[in-house]
Amino acid sequence: MPSDRLPTGIASVDRLLGGGLETDAVTELYGEGGSGKTLFCLEVAARVARASRWVFYVDTEGVSLERLRSIGGADFARILGRLLLSAPKSLDEQGRAVATACALARGGRRDVGLLVLDSATNYYRLSLSSPDEDDAREALALQVADLVVTARTLGLAVLLTHQVWRNPRDGTLEPLGGSFLNHAAKTILRFDRRDGARRAVVLVKHRARPAGTAEFRITSTGLESTGPG
Ligand code: GTP
Ligand code: MG
Repeated sequence: MPSDRLPTGIASVDRLLGGGLETDAVTELYGEGGSGKTLFCLEVAARVARASRWVFYVDTEGVSLERLRSIGGADFARILGRLLLSAPKSLDEQGRAVATACALARGGRRDVGLLVLDSATNYYRLSLSSPDEDDAREALALQVADLVVTARTLGLAVLLTHQVWRNPRDGTLEPLGGSFLNHAAKTILRFDRRDGARRAVVLVKHRARPAGTAEFRITSTGLESTGPG
């Protein structure tokens, strides 16, 4: 397994990604509501924190600590002890939270293993079709640029989630945020709902891996690989 990968612990996804998340780049997750993006972020965060590395987690959705408790089990307290959680309430606050997380990571006082921004486009979405839309897009682009540079300089895995919109031209689901965000991410994963607790992760873009699909299941204690891999 390449050392420049951060295993997610979900075998099918790690296989799809050639060992795990790239550690010097931004990985973008997009998909409809309930497709598992947040659970995926929590699962990887728990794994990193369990290994005593810090996770900086910027949460705009009101992350469920109960969910993290289910994933963490007996290690919940230890995981919380390595989690720096911020919960911005606006795009401006999100900008400050991202800047702080990047600065702290670059400060080097903590061994940071993962930075999460979930969701990057929650507040941006509120500005769509308003007079603030251009400013909001620019603010978001600056945040993402900071994340890209931080990932690259520190060799840090960054997870960034996006909500989706349905393209009226062909009915496909596309990530919010436009082409800038898609260029900023070196890996793009689409999360699809299947029956019941089943979900699929489609590798849409990667620097070094062929396109493909992995499957997992949502269980009471986290995400469980169902193949291939
Ligand atoms: P948005 O943030 O709305 O875009 O969705 P998401 O893609 O982040 O989905 P999320 O990861 O929050 O949820 C994935 C699925 O997990 C949903 O279908 C929920 O119903 C399910 N889920 C949430 N909490 C639990 C739980 O405690 N137990 C089980 N079994 N499933 C849960
Ligand atoms: Mg979510």
